Amino acid sequence: MKTISFHGAAPEYLTGIPMAGRLIVVEGTDGVGRSTHVVNLRQWLEVSGHAVVETGWTRSKLVGRTIDKAKSGHMLSPLTYTLLYACDFADRLEKEIIPALRAGYVVLADRYIYTALARCSVRGMETEWLARLFSFAPVPDLVLYLRLDAPALARRVLLSSGIDYWEAGKDMFPQMDIYDSFVAYQSRILEQFDAMCQERSFQPVDARKPIELVQDELRSAVARLLRE
Ligand SMILES: Nc1ncnc2c1ncn2[C@@H]1O[C@H](COP(=O)(O)OP(=O)(O)OP(=O)(O)O)[C@@H](O)[C@H]1O
Ligand SMILES: [Mg+2]
Repeated sequence: MKTISFHGAAPEYLTGIPMAGRLIVVEGTDGVGRSTHVVNLRQWLEVSGHAVVETGWTRSKLVGRTIDKAKSGHMLSPLTYTLLYACDFADRLEKEIIPALRAGYVVLADRYIYTALARCSVRGMETEWLARLFSFAPVPDLVLYLRLDAPALARRVLLSSGIDYWEAGKDMFPQMDIYDSFVAYQSRILEQFDAMCQERSFQPVDARKPIELVQDELRSAVARLLRE
């Protein structure tokens, strides 16, 4: 059994505590296919005999609804946005992620702190401050980074749910039409993810391929990790 490492100093009560589970993150821009693949990975893992817990960005009991409400008003400042994200993550870490890891579950996270680092950084929050704020986050065992260029992403999102205010980064580009704003904003987010992919050894996965092929690639990476 191993102990978890953290991005910064480990919270005191978790220092040296053994964790039998594995933390697997699926990251990527809006609409790239994360939820589709998390559902498929979960089914495959459960059929293979693993206990799985899923956790998703802004789905905490503590502030999940508050974040939805705040976003619906379009008046969220970058600082409040960042702090709400940190509260959401802290709540899920304490109540979902850590207990599941200690009990030996595979935790599948649909987005992780890297989404917050990317989104908050492009909104002008200072990189070092952000890194310190989220330093209580465990380092995942595997980060699967689904990657699709911004124009292809726009086509995919238009074909499914349509582009919303925050996905288009309209708070950053209010003067642009929604399509141009989406491409400009998502391109900036992609730059952030690409840099983190290099620095933090994410496993990049080409999300242009058909769903089945992308899923095969994800399963191979997960199977490799679970064999270790
Ligand atoms: N490889 C793929 N090729 C074509 N379409 C895809 C692919 N992967 C996902 N899709 C489709 O793209 C749409 C968005 O997928 P999904 O909801 O899984 O993305 P997401 O990353 O979870 O989005 P969100 O950011 O909104 O949570 C869905 O209609 C899905 O069927
Ligand atoms: Mg989703």
